[in-house]
Amino acid sequence: MIEVNGLSKSYGDYQAVAGVSFSAQKGEVVGFLGPNGAGKTTTIRMLATYLPPTAGAATVAGYNIVTQADEVRRRIGYLPENPPLYGEMTVREYLKFIAEIKGVPRTEMAKRVDSVMERCFIADVSHKLCHHLSRGYRQRVGLAQAIIHEPEVIILDEPTSGLDPNQIIKIRQLIKSLGETHTVLLSTHILPEVSAVCSKVVIVNRGRVVMESELSKLSRDKSLEQIFLESVSQEDAVDAAA
Ligand SMILES: Nc1ncnc2c1ncn2[C@@H]1O[C@H](COP(=O)(O)OP(=O)(O)OP(=O)(O)O)[C@@H](O)[C@H]1O
Ligand SMILES: [Mg+2]
Repeated sequence: MIEVNGLSKSYGDYQAVAGVSFSAQKGEVVGFLGPNGAGKTTTIRMLATYLPPTAGAATVAGYNIVTQADEVRRRIGYLPENPPLYGEMTVREYLKFIAEIKGVPRTEMAKRVDSVMERCFIADVSHKLCHHLSRGYRQRVGLAQAIIHEPEVIILDEPTSGLDPNQIIKIRQLIKSLGETHTVLLSTHILPEVSAVCSKVVIVNRGRVVMESELSKLSRDKSLEQIFLESVSQEDAVDAAA
């Protein structure tokens, strides 16, 4: 579970995240949607405890992201914008290494590595060096390292970026199924991705939340409908008539 309350981040005078609040429950996949530069990655990095906030608070899996950062890290799986893989390790070695760090019991290690490779469709590259992986495969290995220890909360920064259309469909299915038993927060700027995977959407723009809604409510809410008109008249004449 994630509870975010007035979270802010400034870089000098520039406020990249300006008092963001939202929540994500167990069994929910929450889509964090917004244009480039909206503050999605900055917010996600704060929730993953990699960036200290300048104001506000948040709890992840019940622990404070600032004062209990170690507890948070133990309970989350995090896929950053650019997954940091160890280039000189093979995919299997890398995942074993991550599983060890994340405290997967030794007796379960081999089984867990095999199963996560299958779930993320990377078994065919298990013996390749991470250094030699294509972008899409790097992304899939990044996802595998995020879920290998079966964390309570999964935080994914643009999980389908760089994937081919076939993989996009498969990875979206995987994320959706993870959402049934975990809390998942994912960032994207693709609206169809939200409707394909998410149960709830939080839309951010210029560091602020402009909407938080369950997807089922969104399609029924008539007040959110917009009508776009195109006119051949002068702008002034249209304004006067409006
Ligand atoms: N280290 C930094 N120093 C200064 N400004 C930064 C820094 N990191 C991010 N920003 C700025 O903060 C704003 C939010 O960036 P952020 O990466 O969170 O956006 P985003 O929503 O993830 O965008 P995208 O869709 O492109 O990934 C941007 O204007 C960005 O330029
Ligand atoms: Mg980003």
